[in-house]
Amino acid sequence: MLRVGVLVSGGGTNLQAVLDAIDSGKIRGAAVEVVISNNPGAYALERARSRGIEAVCLSPKSFDSREKFNEALLEKTDEYNLDLIVLAGFLVTIPAAMIQKYRNRIINIHPSLIPSFCGVGYYGLKVHEAALKRGVKLTGATVHFVDEGMDSGPIILQKAVEVLPGDTPEILQRRVMEEAEWKILPEAIDRIANGAV
Ligand code: GRF
Repeated sequence: MLRVGVLVSGGGTNLQAVLDAIDSGKIRGAAVEVVISNNPGAYALERARSRGIEAVCLSPKSFDSREKFNEALLEKTDEYNLDLIVLAGFLVTIPAAMIQKYRNRIINIHPSLIPSFCGVGYYGLKVHEAALKRGVKLTGATVHFVDEGMDSGPIILQKAVEVLPGDTPEILQRRVMEEAEWKILPEAIDRIANGAV
């Protein structure tokens, strides 16, 4: 059984997609052992608690320095003996020590077709604003391994989504989530759990 930890900052719809996929058998051989958020108000923590999954808040604000926070985050993930760390809308830079220790065991979901609209400054709605501004007809989502760069690690899965006339960043964000993110994140976890990556 692949032991998975999910790191989140917000609503946690991607986390929900993963939990639902475990329930329905779309993800085989994996269990979410812990959900960690930097944000005490993250609804994702509630989603975890209501499923009886450990929900932990580690806010950088409660530590004297970023180094102390980074150490605490690594200690916490180590505590659960995780095989895979899933960044599902986690808006905190992953400490270098964690990337080294969990090489090829941390994955991230990004709401564009990398290498478009990724890297520094491209997160949340900003990604979709940029896609609309450029006038692309296709966008999508990418699941990739996390390395030292920003959205630069090896790509695991991508799925394209159409941009439609009249789209706002919010409408496009929702379509990308529904048609791509909530599908390819569970699929990537299933593939990793079953040796297909
Ligand atoms: C998603 O768009 C994900 O791609 C991103 O942050 C958002 C998280 O949404 N990087 P949620 O918390 O899973 O609802």
